[in-house]
Order: sequence, then C-alpha cells, then structure tokens
Amino acid sequence: MEKQEETAQENEELFPTYKRWELTFQKAEDTTITDTNGNRYQDFMAGIGVVNLGHGHPAVVQAVEKQLHEGWHASNFFHYSQQEEAAHLLTSHSCGDLVFFANSGAEANEAAIKLARKHTSRKKIISFVQSFHGRTFGSMAATGQTAVQEGFGPMPEGFVRLPFNDVNELEKAIDEDTAAVIMEIVQGEGGVRPADEKFVKAVQEQVEKNGALLICDEIQTGIGRTGTFFAHEQRGIEPDIITSAKGLGNGFPVGAMIGKQFLKESFGPGSHGTTFGGNPLAMAAVRATLQTLTEEKWIEAAAEKGERFLNELNRVLRPLPVVEDVRGVGMMAGVELTEASAPAIKALREKGMLVIGAGPNVIRMLPPFTMKEETLVKGVHDIKETLQSIQS
Ligand SMILES: Cc1ncc(COP(=O)(O)O)c(C=O)c1O
Repeated sequence: MEKQEETAQENEELFPTYKRWELTFQKAEDTTITDTNGNRYQDFMAGIGVVNLGHGHPAVVQAVEKQLHEGWHASNFFHYSQQEEAAHLLTSHSCGDLVFFANSGAEANEAAIKLARKHTSRKKIISFVQSFHGRTFGSMAATGQTAVQEGFGPMPEGFVRLPFNDVNELEKAIDEDTAAVIMEIVQGEGGVRPADEKFVKAVQEQVEKNGALLICDEIQTGIGRTGTFFAHEQRGIEPDIITSAKGLGNGFPVGAMIGKQFLKESFGPGSHGTTFGGNPLAMAAVRATLQTLTEEKWIEAAAEKGERFLNELNRVLRPLPVVEDVRGVGMMAGVELTEASAPAIKALREKGMLVIGAGPNVIRMLPPFTMKEETLVKGVHDIKETLQSIQS
C-alpha cells in the first residue's frame, strides 16, 4: 500500500455525525474501493453490509440506468408495475404476503412498530439489550444501546428492553399489553451475536401465547447475508413482520416491511405513507438485485463461502491470546478481542483491508458474496499478522 499523500480534512459544512476516516472515496468496483490517492482497499464490510453482489454489479447498474431514462417518480398514487414486481419477489422469498416500501432500515422498522401497535391496539414493544434498530424515534427507542438514545429523551412510551437470549426475562415481561417483540436473529451492531435456537423458538411461542406480533429485523441479516434469504429461516420460525434494507437494492437506498395477510386492514389508505418509498429507480435496483441473487445462486455461494471463511477465521485466529471468540453465520463474521478492536481496524485499513467494529471489542466482517476465496483467506492472514504486530 502506498503511503497516503494527502490527508482528508474534517469538512466545516457537514454535521460531524460520523468520525470519518482519513480517506476520500474515488470509486468502487466489485470488492475494491479506490481512494483519491489511488490506494485500493478490499471491502470486507461491503459498505456496512450493503453491496452483497459487489459494488456496481452490472445487472443492477443496467436496470437502474434503464429506469433512469424511463422516469424516476410519479408518486404512490400511481400503480407502479416495478413496485408490484419487487413486492412479488419479496413475498415469494418469505413467509410474508404484503410489502410496504420505505427508503431505509430505520423507516422499515418505524413502519413495523406502527403497524404492530395499530393492529393490536396495544402499547408495549419488547426489544433486546445490544440490539440496533435505527435512529428515528421508534427505532431508536427499540434499540438496546443507551448511547444511541443519549441526549434525545424523552423516548416514546412503552418500549421495554430485555436481556438477549434470556427466556425467563421474556416470560416475565410479555403480557396482554404487548404489541410486538422485535429481534435480530444475529445482532449485528451489537457484536455479531447470534440468538440461541431455543430462545428464538421461545420468543415465537410467547408471542403467540400472548397475542402479540413477532417482528424480525433482517436489515443486516437478510438478502442472503447469513446464507439463506432471511436468517430466521434457519431457526424454523415464521415472523409476522420482517424488515429489510441494506442489501435489498445492493447500494441503492431502499427499505421494506413485509407483513402477513391478516395485517392488511390495519395499514389502509391514510394510515402510513412516504413520498419516495417504492419509487421506480429503487424498485429497478431491488428487482435486479433479487433476480441476480437467485439466478446466479449467490445465496448458496454465501452459505458455502461463509462456512469456509468462518472455519479459516477459527483455525487461524482462535489460537491467538488476544482473540476471545470467533462467531458468525454465513458471510457475517465477528472476531472478539480481549481488548479494544479500534487499533486493529485502523491497522488493517492501512494494510488495504476495510473492516468495521461492532461494540468496543469486535472486528466485524460482512464481505460481498462475490469476494474471491483467496482474498477471503488472505484477509484472515492479514488479521493474524495485524493482531500479532499490535501485540508485540
Ligand atoms: C439490524 C439493523 N436494523 C436497522 C438498521 C438501520 O438501518 P438504516 O441505517 O438504513 O436506517 C441497521 C443499520 O445498521 C441495522 O443493522
């Protein structure tokens, strides 16, 4: 890697909501990002779990380009065939029957929380400690990380956050005022923490017993990331509502809430809406992404590559004293260290490998499914070298 010639400065005209790296984006292609100094990086984080098919997959680019010339926006008063086709692809790949398209993950969760309350006429929304559901008021209140809520109070009423993977606490808290339980099958931002199979089953049982709804937040885990279309399929449950975003448009901003047929009447005309959600450009990206994932068998590839990647991470990194745990599902992996992961993440970036943190001690990887096996293996060895050099 060449030494960086220029250092990106903090911009004076942007709210500093992100602690930006000293890198300025130039271009991205498949699994590589190039900065304005000509340095190339292997993107092991896929733009935070977004470009599952790699940056600029030709099928998605062509579909968006075609739509660009045919019209971007007319409003949701029109029937959009593009939206109906995208909805059909989502319902045919899930246990859901109806789709509401939004522009982001947080918006999809916001829709899910509103729908659950409206349908049940109940207040309580149960979520779990260390979960992440977004930064709008409803999704922020559901998020199980106090740092996300700090300074923005008061939170909306009725949100209860329980310890993750703890069936007893759930049994105590769920009651006849519970509208929904919202959960990630693998907590992403919270440290790549899979939910126990027993716990997931117990959540579904308790929800059914108490007449509440189950919302699976599949914003990070969905669209093949964990080796099946949605992660909950591997736990043998059927949520009432599924939320999706990130990989859904392979980088085009779009979110979706998928719900069961019996919820239809609760989201009638005037109940919820969005100006941009489901616009033809986003829908072109969704259709091309979902069709390509299926036709080119990328989800199967994610399952197989992901298993080999996790095995290699385990084999090479577990023996290191600084490594506390290696965990993951499919192409979603976390290496938990006995110390803060930020110095290793920075050192890896300087080596040309982009990874991201998840909680204070975890190195998180969400590579595009198109990443070559040899690149994945090299990444594992780069992590080993980096951890060893930081330790010495
Ligand atoms: C599980 C989960 N839910 C919700 C969100 C929020 O999505 P967005 O940033 O698109 O609003 C994220 C984003 O990281 C996420 O990982």
